[in-house]
Amino acid sequence: MLEIINISKTFLPGTVNERKALDNVSFRMEDGEFITIIGSNGAGKSTLLSAIAGSFPTDRGKVILDGEDISSMPEYKRSRSIGRLFQDPLSGTAPGLTIEENMALVYLQGKKTANSFSRIGKEEREMFRERLRPLDLGLEDRLEQPVGLLSGGQRQALTLLLATLYPPKLLMLDEHTAALDPGSAERIMTLTKDIVRENRISCLMVTHNMRQALDAGSRTLIMNAGKIVADISGDERAGMDVGKLTDLFRNAAGSEYANDRMILSS
Ligand SMILES: Nc1ncnc2c1ncn2[C@@H]1O[C@H](COP(=O)(O)OP(=O)(O)OP(=O)(O)O)[C@@H](O)[C@H]1O
Ligand SMILES: [Mg+2]
Repeated sequence: MLEIINISKTFLPGTVNERKALDNVSFRMEDGEFITIIGSNGAGKSTLLSAIAGSFPTDRGKVILDGEDISSMPEYKRSRSIGRLFQDPLSGTAPGLTIEENMALVYLQGKKTANSFSRIGKEEREMFRERLRPLDLGLEDRLEQPVGLLSGGQRQALTLLLATLYPPKLLMLDEHTAALDPGSAERIMTLTKDIVRENRISCLMVTHNMRQALDAGSRTLIMNAGKIVADISGDERAGMDVGKLTDLFRNAAGSEYANDRMILSS
């Protein structure tokens, strides 16, 4: 489904700040697979997602999505089949627009028959409410309110909904619950798992949280210094707890890189 072949990326080459962020990374992801990615700060996790999203040209390597080589496809085109969420809950929605307007933008963009004169009618409004209801945040009764009035958790829930309004082939989550309070983080994680399962979306999720890395999905990659240093699935992963994953992380990534936040946050 997704094939990453020998991707490398060096930032600021030839300068004192030169950084090899991705070092010949390859992996294959099956249809509907949910992979979690852990690694210390600067390991190259976000850079890997950006390379897949097409945020910059890579130095080397290929990205193949559903058999199509998208390596030179611009980011905006890739975004039609790849959804992405970031850590900052404010980044995925427009604060000055209402919930309905935010939803309408995404809805009309993805609708083949829509044009710039298309408007949202009663039917669509009801559909938006139906989609908001399962979030269980009461947003279905706040369609006319600006998104800027929502809490971080509410906004991230809306962003998740928008990213999957038309289910993408691939959903990439970059520590999308890290900036939320524990209760909101858990709610967003549950929603994420539900939406991914119901729509059979393939998902790559970066997290700093060892528990989250094991609880979601069925495979975990450990990254260090721009490389994938461990790929855990099947029986090995089924028998893994946070303690074992932490040991493995320390061995694979070097103990000096394990940070307390990863281990202690539950
Ligand atoms: N646009 C950029 N320009 C220069 N260097 C960059 C850029 N983006 C990332 N880097 C560098 O590339 C390396 C990998 O960064 P990346 O953001 O992928 O790490 P990460 O694993 O996501 O870390 P974190 O857990 O802190 O989010 C780091 O050394 C970083 O400083
Ligand atoms: Mg990152």
